[in-house]
Amino acid sequence: MASASGHNKEYFNKEAASYDSKHGKTLDQIIEEIRARLDFIGVDWADEVDDGDDNLDGKDAESGGVSGQKKTVRLLDYACGTGVVSRALAPYTTQCVGIDLSENMVAAYNTRAENQGIAPSEMRAYQGNLCSPEDPTPSAFASPEFFDFDVAAVGLGFHHFDDPALAARRLAARLKTGGVLVIIDFLPHEKMDTSHAATPTVTHHGFSEEQIKRIFEEAGVGKDFALEEAAVVFFRQAEGQPSIKRRIFFARGTKA
Ligand SMILES: C[S@@+](CC[C@H](N)C(=O)[O-])C[C@H]1O[C@@H](n2cnc3c(N)ncnc32)[C@H](O)[C@@H]1O
Repeated sequence: MASASGHNKEYFNKEAASYDSKHGKTLDQIIEEIRARLDFIGVDWADEVDDGDDNLDGKDAESGGVSGQKKTVRLLDYACGTGVVSRALAPYTTQCVGIDLSENMVAAYNTRAENQGIAPSEMRAYQGNLCSPEDPTPSAFASPEFFDFDVAAVGLGFHHFDDPALAARRLAARLKTGGVLVIIDFLPHEKMDTSHAATPTVTHHGFSEEQIKRIFEEAGVGKDFALEEAAVVFFRQAEGQPSIKRRIFFARGTKA
């Protein structure tokens, strides 16, 4: 079977300019769903640093940091698109790094961040692909700034990947020990009919809990695995086509 990457790049390059406005309500709903699951995701978020249990030397007992100083919590937002996951988690992290196959999605992500006055050191996306079978560590992403993340997330990207299990392994390799992988995607659904322009970009018609659990375990991020069903969402299609309805799940697991 031909790789879906080419179809994805072409399709999402075309979609980038209208993605946020076309799916605005749905994306707002997804941001709400993410923020409602901060505890479920189970990262020690940046806003939770100062619990008042200072040692005499002014260090926070748990974080080891100077009291009141924000600890670092770094997010890898893979298949970031225009940055929905980054936007949802930005208040709870200190750095969001996006990576996406589509250069136009990446440009939209960065323009949005710049327009909000957010420094590139805090929120920046890069064009690339960590899921190529031939290239485990692309040279563009070989430097330390692309490793040791506290959390790596894929929002609605997993069903576009040729090999989600490979993607999970590649993302797990980018996490620090104790880091968390989060997948937000669709539960199993009917096949899309071929009239949808997005059809060639979709490699999986949703995932079962068993499939996702196995993928997490095989990637070494199966510790404290949990999957939770979230909202039903609707995605607008081209003019004249009915919206598509999807049941969303959140899955999380820790790198042991
Ligand atoms: C449905 S969009 C989701 C974007 C964003 N995460 C969100 O939740 O709105 C899917 C994204 O996956 C990206 N994508 C598809 N295959 C990819 C791959 N192999 N590596 C990186 N990004 C990929 C597409 O370019 C697109 O931006």
